Amino acid sequence: MMNKITETVKYLKSKTNFTPEIGIILGSGLGNLTDEILIEHSISYQDIPNFPVSTVKDHSGKLVFGTLSGKKVVAMKGRFHYYEGWSMDQVVFPVRVMKFLGIETLIVSNAAGGMGEKFNVGDLMIIKDHINFQPVHPLRGKNNDELGPRFPDMTNAYDPSLIAKAQKIADSNDIVCHQGVYIGVQGPTFETPAEYKAFHILGADAVGMSTVPEVIVARHMGIKVFGMSVITDVGYPPEAMEDVSHDLVLAAAKNAEPAMTLIIKELLK
Ligand code: HPA
Repeated sequence: MMNKITETVKYLKSKTNFTPEIGIILGSGLGNLTDEILIEHSISYQDIPNFPVSTVKDHSGKLVFGTLSGKKVVAMKGRFHYYEGWSMDQVVFPVRVMKFLGIETLIVSNAAGGMGEKFNVGDLMIIKDHINFQPVHPLRGKNNDELGPRFPDMTNAYDPSLIAKAQKIADSNDIVCHQGVYIGVQGPTFETPAEYKAFHILGADAVGMSTVPEVIVARHMGIKVFGMSVITDVGYPPEAMEDVSHDLVLAAAKNAEPAMTLIIKELLK
């Protein structure tokens, strides 16, 4: 695996000598943050050795290097999901590459289904913790000591000081922004009413099909993490649940995107 990481990092460094300090992963319908980046270099996934190529509609698949709020960033426009058929190693590969490009902080965003009375479609939720409900753990197998420890601590997986700063930014801009627990599931089905209820009882506030594997490998490598969900549909209580489709998720994410973009831009400062 180290060979692949080294090969990919070498390729990217041959294309740009830009050294990012912050990595950004943009979720479904949230790719436009890259429009705010002063782009230095942009590379399609299909041109990057060892990179999987995203199959989901609106995950256009580009690695973007540039400056955002004065900070050097590398952003993934489009991510890889386990339900697409990639191995867990492939899903998290870009995060490992970003680490060796130099990032110290990772910002992740996603579209998620909200569970609980407090949520309305279009609300934002800062992820304060997660539940890993994906079927395969990204660190399964022999530990690579060059990347991190066998048994990583996950107590403050989501950086408390970044959470506090982001909440302040949201509040002072009158943006509805909750904090909550994200449960990462495999998908690709959206949840049944009974599953939304079960996840709510388990202690989750939002459910989605991404993020958790990337956050786990980032923490394994000692990268600081900040995560944010856009609530694109509400699945619990049952009377709040409406039919959900990928198009509805994308539309709701688009509507909430400016608020999320504002928070991330201010947070980077
Ligand atoms: N469930 C899982 N993933 C999602 C959802 C959901 O309700 N909404 C957006 N992504």
